[in-house]
Amino acid sequence: ERTLRQLAADDRLRIGTAVDMSALADDPDYRRITGEQFSTVTPENVMKWEVIEPQRGVYDYAAADQLVAFAARHGQKVRGHTLVWHSQLPSWLTTGDFTAQELRQILHRHITDTVRHFKGRIWQWDVVNEAFNDDGTLRNSIWLQKLGPGYIADAFRWAHEADPHAKLFYNDYNIEWSGPKSDAVLDLVGRLKAEGVPIDGVGFQGHLGIQYGLPGGVPENFARFEKLGLDTAVTEADVRMVLPADDEKLATQAEGYRLLLDACLRTRHCISFTVWGFTDRYSWVPGVFEGEGAANLLDEDYGVKPAFRAVQKAL
Ligand code: XIL
Repeated sequence: ERTLRQLAADDRLRIGTAVDMSALADDPDYRRITGEQFSTVTPENVMKWEVIEPQRGVYDYAAADQLVAFAARHGQKVRGHTLVWHSQLPSWLTTGDFTAQELRQILHRHITDTVRHFKGRIWQWDVVNEAFNDDGTLRNSIWLQKLGPGYIADAFRWAHEADPHAKLFYNDYNIEWSGPKSDAVLDLVGRLKAEGVPIDGVGFQGHLGIQYGLPGGVPENFARFEKLGLDTAVTEADVRMVLPADDEKLATQAEGYRLLLDACLRTRHCISFTVWGFTDRYSWVPGVFEGEGAANLLDEDYGVKPAFRAVQKAL
């Protein structure tokens, strides 16, 4: 049977997964499938600020370096995730009482040091993650509060200076379809492009839940971004459900994955399709969404689910 990465190569698409570094270290089946099935990887947590810079100016790239090395051995490209976000920040940063000028320096330094450290080894960087609320207003993060909306353009400029060849992405969820949030992101990235800010793409996370109904108009929405001259990517696909799973829910889930992948395949510059983990054995969903789970392509024992078959078939 051909692997997902072989099938995707025919479509000139990279297929990816988020990688859980403890599973990669401890679980040989997980390690084998990660290397065999995928042509791009994203660190699920180990490039986030709290891991990379646990003390001000003190960096720990060890775990991230391990993934980058794994990727190189397996002919995989790396999505860097993520430079500017409101979540998983170290406490020295969130509790420190910094002036705007200090915080701006801190952000500049974190971006510069991190992007330089991985220079030449990162394909796409999620430079700014989840900067909007669902109603299309900017999220009231520490960055917006202290630096104002200009932090977004600054982050892209600084990342570009540190690695001019990396593709720089804005990444968010609930922007797969048209609505206030995707309209606001479209407006932002259009303005950034017009101002000459170095942005290359938009990442659509693709966290769906079948209980909300599956989204419509996804390819048409991707096309709006492509028209601006931007790459697109599905960056964190998973399709959760209220447990327990049953055949009908698993079929709807398969349709959810299929529609996200199909939108990507129908968009000329949709360059990668990444799932947020490939097995229900290790998933962020049950820990965050109470009573929900079974969101991935393989079950807890690496058994193939209808969603995996749907992805295989669509590729
Ligand atoms: C999640 C990870 O999967 C969890 O392990 C962690 O505890 C919290 O973050 N959007 C993102 C990802 O951009 O970084 C998040 O990852 C999931 C939602």
